Amino acid sequence: MKATAIAPSNIALVKYWGRRNNELVLPFNTNLSMTFDKMYTTTTIEFSDAHERDVVIINGKEVDGDKFARSSKHIDLIRKMAGIETRMKMVSTNNFPTRAGFASSASGGAAEAMAAAAAAGLKLNDRELSILARRSGSGSAARSIHGGFVIWHRGERDDGNDSYAEQFVDENYWKEFRVLATVLDEREKKVTSAEGMEDTVKTCPYYPTWVETAKKDVETIRKAILDRDFKAVGETAEHNCLKMHALMLTTRPSLIYWGPETIEIMKAVQAWRSEGVHAYFTIDAGPNVKVLCLKDNQEDVAARLRALPIVKNVIETQPGPGARLVDEHLF
Ligand code: PMV
Repeated sequence: MKATAIAPSNIALVKYWGRRNNELVLPFNTNLSMTFDKMYTTTTIEFSDAHERDVVIINGKEVDGDKFARSSKHIDLIRKMAGIETRMKMVSTNNFPTRAGFASSASGGAAEAMAAAAAAGLKLNDRELSILARRSGSGSAARSIHGGFVIWHRGERDDGNDSYAEQFVDENYWKEFRVLATVLDEREKKVTSAEGMEDTVKTCPYYPTWVETAKKDVETIRKAILDRDFKAVGETAEHNCLKMHALMLTTRPSLIYWGPETIEIMKAVQAWRSEGVHAYFTIDAGPNVKVLCLKDNQEDVAARLRALPIVKNVIETQPGPGARLVDEHLF
């Protein structure tokens, strides 16, 4: 019983920040993302009596502690669903820096859910897989099951069965849309999203306003994507990102995920815009910045970014397909 899945990472254009249920990973606000064509995790999982204990190997290193606990808890849930108790071996690789705001936990959680479900013999539909990916501990993994542009519904139920992500247009709908991911700082972040958002919900005085206004942002961006209205997508996504960072800054203790180079890129993008360059930024819980633009000015924006000495690398992406099973295993 061995299966391998490839799952892409994604970038939220309307962020999720804050959980109404930590255990089930249920968000306070509906959110919206684009799935990347280029940044992905490949995961092979095998359930076998030959394994005396669970083993998790990520990017060539056996992991223990929190990372191991997270995966093995997720796999336990899948074992329970499948009615098996067999131990497993999991080998996983990312083709991009781990834990630097590139949502490796999103692609990792989605690949883990899909590979483990298949290896355990479960036959799940996309909605069930999205719910299972969410249970990896990384909520944004729910979105990585799907390609193109995706909405993760907050849901109303306490059991979370109506909190899943679904595609609203596929990766071919707006092929010209680009996200240029800048690599500025590859160090792992000190406060995880789960810890940070828990503190925000408890202590940030602006949290209710966030939940209220994020609802409108989802509607605005959804419509703008359907209309292929880049300006409306960019303006709303940048504003939504700044609102999330305003929450983080005003959490106790405060969460400053930016570095000096983050601010430099934010200012550069805004300055380029005043020169007539159509580009906007968005940032997750880390220092790296993603720049939104269209194919028409991709070359120009990428060249401007690469010309900044603080930029180590620019990964140029567009909407891509969702998670899938493949025949080539990692072991
Ligand atoms: O996927 P999580 O539960 O680790 O949280 C991710 C949160 C953000 O990346 C900051 C925002 C988002 O919606 O992706």
